[in-house]
Amino acid sequence: MSDASRAMAPAFLDLPPLLGVSGTVRLPGSKSISNRVLLLAGLSAGRTRIHDLLDSDDTRVMIDALRTLGCAVETHGGSICITGLAGRLSVHEAQLFLGNAGTAMRPLAAALALLAATQGGCFELSGVARMHERPIGDLIDALRSLGCSITCLSQPGYPPLRLEGPTQLRQGTPICVRGDVSSQFLTALLMALPLVAAEHERVIEVEGELISKPYIEITLALLERFGVHVRREGWQRFTLPASSVYRSPGDIHVEGDASSASYFIAAGAIAATEAPLRIEGAGIGSIQGDIRFIEAARAMGADIVEEANALQVRRGAWPLKAITLDCNHIPDAAMTLAMMALYADGTTRLTNIASWRVKETDRIAAMAAELRKFGARVVEGADFIEVGPPTHWRAASIHTYDDHRMAMCASLAAFNALAAGAPESAGVFALDDQRTGGTVLDAKRPSVPVRVLDPRCVGKTFPDYFSVLFSIARADRDTIPVLTVDGPTASGKGTLGNELALRLGYHHLDSGALYRATALAALRAGIDANDERRVAALARQLPLRFDQLRALLGGEDVTDALRAEAVGSLASQVAALPAVRKALLELQLSFRRLPGLVADGRDMGSVVFPDAALKVFLTASAATRAERRHKQLISKGISANLSALRDDLEARDARDQNRSIAPLKAPSEAKLLDNSALSIDASVEQVLDWWAAMQPFGRGSEPY
Ligand code: DC
Repeated sequence: MSDASRAMAPAFLDLPPLLGVSGTVRLPGSKSISNRVLLLAGLSAGRTRIHDLLDSDDTRVMIDALRTLGCAVETHGGSICITGLAGRLSVHEAQLFLGNAGTAMRPLAAALALLAATQGGCFELSGVARMHERPIGDLIDALRSLGCSITCLSQPGYPPLRLEGPTQLRQGTPICVRGDVSSQFLTALLMALPLVAAEHERVIEVEGELISKPYIEITLALLERFGVHVRREGWQRFTLPASSVYRSPGDIHVEGDASSASYFIAAGAIAATEAPLRIEGAGIGSIQGDIRFIEAARAMGADIVEEANALQVRRGAWPLKAITLDCNHIPDAAMTLAMMALYADGTTRLTNIASWRVKETDRIAAMAAELRKFGARVVEGADFIEVGPPTHWRAASIHTYDDHRMAMCASLAAFNALAAGAPESAGVFALDDQRTGGTVLDAKRPSVPVRVLDPRCVGKTFPDYFSVLFSIARADRDTIPVLTVDGPTASGKGTLGNELALRLGYHHLDSGALYRATALAALRAGIDANDERRVAALARQLPLRFDQLRALLGGEDVTDALRAEAVGSLASQVAALPAVRKALLELQLSFRRLPGLVADGRDMGSVVFPDAALKVFLTASAATRAERRHKQLISKGISANLSALRDDLEARDARDQNRSIAPLKAPSEAKLLDNSALSIDASVEQVLDWWAAMQPFGRGSEPY
């Protein structure tokens, strides 16, 4: 992959119509718990082994910050060990970049402000542009009232920040903090104050109605695990007793993320019509407030069975029931309710969600704008949103605003074939006797595709969200798009196919590798390449697997072995055997999986995927192809003769074109692409243009 395409891959992800869900999902670790545990481990005396930690953008910035501050960080198998600072700074000057992680910025700002004040130091905390728009003034005011020196480096009340010391901290007076903008300010103070409570008790008083109380409960529960007991009077007054000191609990487990569970609970409520969807990692006894999303989902009709550490979800009422709900206790998961509202029997009203406006993006505005694209009727207010389901669904390209939850939410619209409102300009697909809610659907069911822009933003909390979704989602095979690249040997099909797959977020089938692997297996087993029956038997059982860009044969990495000239030559022989081609057919068809496939080879469009949405026939002159191969061999240190290579290519072309089975030829409807004079990027762009012209979305980032 070129650097350019790595940076761009993929700019969007198109979701074909999803018709059902079943199976088991294992949730990633909770973001809120992960980042709190990391910081507490970093501040504690002793070594903490953290199990099931979330691996995501937000936890990565926290880990990097702890490392910069001098904490020892080691990974052991699936767990991570942090040796804490025991409340003593070992690094007194640092610049920390915290991305868009509010759960890192707020508590680190508080902790470092206090440590700099008491031990001296200078720390600068910054993030991405959006982080510099997220208010932190109330926390800064609280810390300044205590005596900390904090400079806002850009605009007052917003990061980036400079924290300096030593300064004289005040004793005695309670620290006041506003509780009605973000509960993270209180969390930050609660986590930081034990650093200066060894000798004096510290009291925090909350001004205004405290929002998102469940997050404060997580904070208090975790402080307990690290040896600090906070006395709480209602939600207004919190006291950290004198002699509070952090002590590592040794081992600590991170629960699965309850907010992440909401997408699968919703998917189960919408589309688990046969067996329940099992969601592992959160259940009864979860300390995360968002677990109460279960109650809201039940009110909308979800059928949910709770176990100690798992949930079983299936469709209950259908359509879902519209609700009116105060969502203050589940601010993050409530976004998922707005998506469920698309499948409800009336208008859903979510209230008391003003905090949405200061999250990763202004989530009320974002949600309203994007839901309207599907045809939903949306009313937004300062602290509420109302969503009525579309009467006619429309294909939509969804902006995600660098907000992981917008992207995960958007995916739930891909079940629109199951909704009551018929899509307006629908692609129609067949359902093979799918059952929904006990009724057999019509043989044909309209649906619209959904495009999610910048899908990688899910990396903030759930990097493999889409592949997990696709692993439990069912789609009609015919609606899973296939794009084929056929063409002669050494035309660059593999490179083009691979780049296209990356740019579209699709799977990639390098069918030549299957023939090469068959040839290699035959070679190793001492089977004559002309022994059709035995080679075909080998092909049928081929223990070939692809892991990222590596090919594994029986577990052995054979990526390089497959590229050997001798193997290529043998592959050309075995590929001419009808029984071998038949044996490999099923294997090739099995690559057609959600969300889509780019398949390259001699006969992908003509034989294997005759219904491919786009067929490309890639050619280059024999002279160009010989030159490319020559360069390739020379760069590998293999001596080669240009004219011999060209003769060989022409002989192979003739063999491939004239063989009786699946001869190489351009499928009649294929787009011809001669790349003799084109760079790889130019070829990729050309095919993406053809592809875009076939979609209802346009080329990439522009809204529909
Ligand atoms: O594309 P390649 O060089 O990796 O292919 C190896 C051999 O397999 C080549 O001789 C053509 C043959 N092949 C085929 O017949 N049909 C395919 N779909 C892919 C490759």
